[in-house]
This record gives sequence, C-alpha cells and structure tokens, in this order.
Amino acid sequence: MAGGPSTPALAAAVSDAGGLGFLAAGYLTAEALGSQIDEFRKLTDAPFGVNLFLGAGTPERDLSAYVRRLQPEAERYGATLGTPDWADDDHYPAKLDLLVGRPVPVVSFTFGCPAAEDVRRLQAVGTEVLITVTTPAEAATATAAGADALVVQGFEAGGHRGAFIDQQDLPGGGPLYGLLAALRLIAGTTDLPLIAAGGLVHGADIAAVLAGGAVAAQLGTAFLRCPEAGTQPAQRKALAAADRDTDLTRAFSGRPARGLVNRFMDENSAEAPSAYPQIHQITRPLRAAAAKQQDPEAMSLWAGQTYSLAPELPAAELIARLTAECGDALLKATRRIGM
Ligand SMILES: Cc1cc2nc3c(=O)[nH]c(=O)nc-3n(C[C@H](O)[C@H](O)[C@H](O)COP(=O)(O)O)c2cc1C
Repeated sequence: MAGGPSTPALAAAVSDAGGLGFLAAGYLTAEALGSQIDEFRKLTDAPFGVNLFLGAGTPERDLSAYVRRLQPEAERYGATLGTPDWADDDHYPAKLDLLVGRPVPVVSFTFGCPAAEDVRRLQAVGTEVLITVTTPAEAATATAAGADALVVQGFEAGGHRGAFIDQQDLPGGGPLYGLLAALRLIAGTTDLPLIAAGGLVHGADIAAVLAGGAVAAQLGTAFLRCPEAGTQPAQRKALAAADRDTDLTRAFSGRPARGLVNRFMDENSAEAPSAYPQIHQITRPLRAAAAKQQDPEAMSLWAGQTYSLAPELPAAELIARLTAECGDALLKATRRIGM
C-alpha cells in the first residue's frame, strides 16, 4: 500500500504473525526502498515481498483543462499544483537493479506486465515473481512472461486497479470482474497458483477464495487501521465513521482507483483524464495540504468495498482472528454439505 499506509513495521508484524508482509516500493527511489528493506530486516528474519509499479509511458496529452478545473481547489487549500513529468518511470530500472543485487523472497508487480527478461533476472537470484492481473487476457500475458504466481484483483479492491492498460472510455479502465468470477475465469486460462485480492476483510472471505481455488488471499484495507500502518489520521477517522460509499475514480491520480467518496471525487471524477502518474503529480501538493489540514474531502482515501468492517487491531491480532475465522468457516461449510 504505497503512499504511506505500508510501513516496514506493518510488513514485519504481518510476516512475524505468519502472513507475507509487503513493502510498497511505489513512489520511492531505489535508495528509499533500500532503507525500508534494511529497516524490515532489523525487525525480523521472516520472509516478505516488495511491490513494484510498472506502467510508465502514457502518451503525452494536454491536461490544461483539468489543471484549470483544479486551480480553485488548490487555492482553497493554499497549495500550488504540481507539474506533470512525462518521463517519470517511478525509478523502476534502479529499483529492479537493487532487487537483483540485494535479493528479497518475493517481488510483485502492478500496473502492467514486466518484460520476461526482468522476470528472469529476479528468478535467477532466487526471487519469486507475482504479477497482478484483473482479466483472463492479462493473466495469459503474465503467464507468458514467466510469473511464478498471479495476484487476481477483483473490482471490490481498495486502491488502484492493477489493469495493464487504462482505457479512458471505461470508468474502471477495463472490464470489471468481481473476485470470484475473475478467479474462476482465470483458472481456466493458466495453471499458475492464484492469490485472491479484493474486498476480503473476514476469515470467512478468505475461506471463500480458498474454496474457489486460490492458494492464498491478499488483504489491503483490512490492515489500514492497524497501529503499525502509516494511514493518515483523517483517513483513519473516515474509515472508522464508516458512513461513506466507495467508488472508482481517476480524479486524484489519472488511473482508476477505489476510495471513500468525498467532495473532490464528486466534483472531479467525471472530468478526470487518463494520465498516470501525471495527474498524481499535479494533485500531490493539494492532497498533502488537505491532509495537513485534516480535511478528508480532498484526500485520496483509498479503501475497498468492505472497509466498514476493518477492525482497529494490531496486525498480529488481526491475522490470528482471520485465521480462526477462516478455519471456522471452512468447517461449517464442510458440515453444511454433509461431509
Ligand atoms: C491504501 C491502499 C493502497 C494500495 N497500494 C497498492 C500498491 O502500492 N501496490 C499494489 O499493487 N496494490 C496496492 N493496493 C491494492 C492492493 O494490492 C489490493 O489489491 C487491495 O488492497 C485488495 O482489496 P482490499 O483493499 O479490499 O483488501 C492498495 C490498496 C489500498 C487500500
């Protein structure tokens, strides 16, 4: 969970409790990622993963109409809008080199399919490679690139959709599959192990995706209220209040992402162009100013559809609870069918 919520402390607590914690490398330089890996390793020897962003190379386009639209919003928060950088590659080559030089157990990708050569470089140093997919077609491409396993993300998921290409004419950037439908369809196109993500917040949800053929479940939103997470106070408050719907929007970043609906989304989602990470760069000072003022109405409050059920618990307690709930749900389901 790039942008603050993921911390080495959260990843270490998850890995220590028997999960697989992830460090979010998105938006970080290679140097900052290296420091986070060091920090994680000081906390635990347990295995962990690093998540990388792909998807550079959006064709340059005129964003001035959207920038003009956001100007009064920036003034409202005393912020100056950022400048779009069309050459931004999220430091991908440098971070890949770092991970090849200092291997970690698992690397996952989102926003695209890495080159087969990049996958091979990581595997050659003993790293398992996961690729996030949202459709059967993406699953076929990721399988051909040599992934060890796929993260299947349903439309319920909080945060950005991992779709390889953002199609401007579709609100979700591509076809929107619910998690169980995606799992079933993708299992028909690949033999790779599948990890299910999207809207899983209770152990019974994990039981459901394991029964549906996934080998593991990936949860994001469920951990946002953990004390180890770096979630902003205003976002914690909005999550706890549980009085907002979630929706997909390009308004903050130029790529579809699911978050709690607020004024900024209401006013700008319909006009927001597909231009990632340029819209992210333009809105960054505005979002930071809103966060500083503890105003949730212009912050990106990324969260999945079931966020209202995410408990405020230390990560280890949350994992223990999810595990117990999952075992219980599987037993009950087995009994229900008379086995
Ligand atoms: C606050 C937040 C930040 C996220 N950041 C990332 C990210 O940096 N990289 C990534 O691959 N997925 C990211 N995701 C998506 C998750 O990987 C995952 O698909 C999602 O959390 C699953 O749905 P759930 O949030 O309902 O559990 C993020 C999700 C949230 C809620």
